[in-house]
Amino acid sequence: MILHTHFDLSRLNTLGLHAEAELFFELKNEQDLQTLMKDSSLRSKNWKILGGGSNLVLPKIVHGLTVHIANKGHSLVKEDDDAWYVQCAAGEIWNDFVQWTLKQGYAGLENLSLIPGTVGAAPIQNIGAYGVEVKDTLYEVTCVDLQDGSFKTFSNKECHFSYRDSFFKQEGAGRYMVWSVLFRLPKKFHLHLEYGDIRKEVERRFTTATPKAVAEAVIAIRQSKLPDPLVIGNAGSFFKNPIVTADKRNDLLKDFPDLVSFPANQDNFKLAAGWLIDRAGWKGRKLGPVGMYEKQALVLVNHGGASADDVWKLAQKVSADIQGLFGVSLEAEPVRW
Ligand code: EPU
Repeated sequence: MILHTHFDLSRLNTLGLHAEAELFFELKNEQDLQTLMKDSSLRSKNWKILGGGSNLVLPKIVHGLTVHIANKGHSLVKEDDDAWYVQCAAGEIWNDFVQWTLKQGYAGLENLSLIPGTVGAAPIQNIGAYGVEVKDTLYEVTCVDLQDGSFKTFSNKECHFSYRDSFFKQEGAGRYMVWSVLFRLPKKFHLHLEYGDIRKEVERRFTTATPKAVAEAVIAIRQSKLPDPLVIGNAGSFFKNPIVTADKRNDLLKDFPDLVSFPANQDNFKLAAGWLIDRAGWKGRKLGPVGMYEKQALVLVNHGGASADDVWKLAQKVSADIQGLFGVSLEAEPVRW
């Protein structure tokens, strides 16, 4: 068993923050898991589960034991008249898995192409893009209970999914490590072309709309708006789109007729945080080594050498301006370790 001390995490978080794990272990298989669990001094440490590091703000020193989940494999486990059931290990790269499903001819995940991170991280914050969320096709999640090392399977319902949120980010936080995810990909699929420019992009490039065509359109749109973490450090959208009452939205529309909003449910509206931040003058603006991205104001970027303090300082400043201008609170999407 190789246990690293003072392990450099700067390449394992997409914001590119300089961080060091006090103790670090790369978990590849069940045997590794058993070895860790048998060692009572390791088992009792504060475990931090690291996937692709794409939704994290790391401090300079990460105390406890950082476990990098790196199990691999995906396969078709079952098929019935209506659907394919595909399982994938938590340590697989999300986009590699999505493209593999499409290659096999399974539809359902095309709108979620190119989202950074691992398969295991996908259910934690119920990743979503272009009108689709992972909860739409996720059948169940198998986790390791970190209290005793046993496996526990959660049905879709038990995951309590909501917008960028789940049981694993709330009540289950710190207790469960996602080990694998089972997806149910329907044979009679329905393409989601309604969001933003998807339909336009598909029609511009292809004569027929297919799952693969949608994936290509999504990839092109993402590449044109979102910074590649390998080039410029970022954690995707830094804030959730805030949800406000219909009254609040109507009040805002009086002062800001071009406000971008979408119905969230019967009584509430989701406001485009990117629009609010843009309107508040933060698009492309910097504060020290960090800033809000010039092509998508919702993405906080590290221009080089930033620390968690720099990130939170900017996040607070932006939130305060949004509160002052619109009377709306912003909530950060990445997890703070
Ligand atoms: N907008 C602006 N200025 C900006 C950015 C956005 O005016 O600088 C406006 C856009 O014109 C658009 C609206 O805001 O009318 C929404 O923008 P966009 O379609 O880019 O989506 P978003 O709400 O900013 C969400 C997700 C993204 C996901 C996209 C596409 C959240 C927090 N973010 O962003 O997810 O890719 O929709 O579906 O829900 C992520 O979570 O990391 C992420 C990238």
